[in-house]
Amino acid sequence: MAKLAHAQWSSRMTFVLAAAGSAVGLGNIWRFSYMVGENGGAAFVLVYLACVALVGLPILVAEWLIGRRGQKNPIDTMAEQARQNGKPAAWLGIGVSGVLAAFLILSFYSVIGGWSLNYTLGSVIGTFSGGDADSIGGMFSAMLASPGELLGWHTAFMVLVIAIVARGVTKGLESAVRSMMPALVILMLVLVGYGMTTGHFGEAVAFMFRPDWSALSGGVVLAAMGQAFFTLSLGMGIMMAYGSYLGQDVNLISTARTVIILDTVIALLAGLAIFPIVFANGLSPGEGPGLIFVTLPLAFGNMAGGTVLGLIFFLLLTFAALTSAISLLEPTVEVTIQVASGETRQPAVPSGIVPSFDSPTQQAT
Ligand code: PFF
Repeated sequence: MAKLAHAQWSSRMTFVLAAAGSAVGLGNIWRFSYMVGENGGAAFVLVYLACVALVGLPILVAEWLIGRRGQKNPIDTMAEQARQNGKPAAWLGIGVSGVLAAFLILSFYSVIGGWSLNYTLGSVIGTFSGGDADSIGGMFSAMLASPGELLGWHTAFMVLVIAIVARGVTKGLESAVRSMMPALVILMLVLVGYGMTTGHFGEAVAFMFRPDWSALSGGVVLAAMGQAFFTLSLGMGIMMAYGSYLGQDVNLISTARTVIILDTVIALLAGLAIFPIVFANGLSPGEGPGLIFVTLPLAFGNMAGGTVLGLIFFLLLTFAALTSAISLLEPTVEVTIQVASGETRQPAVPSGIVPSFDSPTQQAT
């Protein structure tokens, strides 16, 4: 009988880019920095690093392995693997809860994506130029106090996500992710360089890396573990879906290491960029979800070339948010199509972030 061979990533690099596109996003810059600030600094950071290395790495590899073995969408993969191994069918609940969780995360992720879009435009028109902590904090509060503005930016962000997912595979996005990652790292380095000029860099380094273990609590450990899962896109079946396109020849551990190092470096650089500005301006590290939106515009508004750098930064942040949001929408779209059409199949090509596949070929089995 002839059957369609399973679609596969065109190269290991494409796979790394897709996984990194999902992993690197608002979680690394927006969520990481305010979680560090709210959870006592270094104690959180060190537990987070341990969670990433000791729990995140094996789970990432496990999701890819299960996906590669199942070669279907996460719900069917879990159901099938449970059946083959004589385990209860309830294991498919893992796939179902992942799809639901991805949808729920997207519901707030897209709101923050909207903020980022708003700040990109704000940078174009020079809104932050010469601003001080009060005026920039005031702009952020004004945005939060305006439901119409929030709804508008959220809708604009979701329209972009839906448009990309609906159009399917777009080759351009692969090269965009390829250039976005180094550009993001370079910009973060520029911001860290700016942080060094504030005179509060040492304080920021101590805050992030010299632990006050009395700050450690069960809640901090839970928050660090949650951040490790969030930043690596784990537990949503997304990495499982990506694993379903993997060939047997890919070394999963070294690939996971590459993705994790990139993801972690971006998060740590974000912290080193943000906290010097926090301390230099007498802001509170525990500011909450607004932290990057009141600190980074301050830096851009007051550094040479800040208008252009601010624009590039918020554009890159929005783009990183988009590639993650696409991966968050994909499972819901996939399951909806499947329920509507009644077929069981491999997950749809993760549009946008999975740009170049070998075309499926006929093979005799
Ligand atoms: N990892 C993404 C980030 O750090 O922004 C967010 C995310 C994407 C979480 C996909 C979960 C997920 F399944």
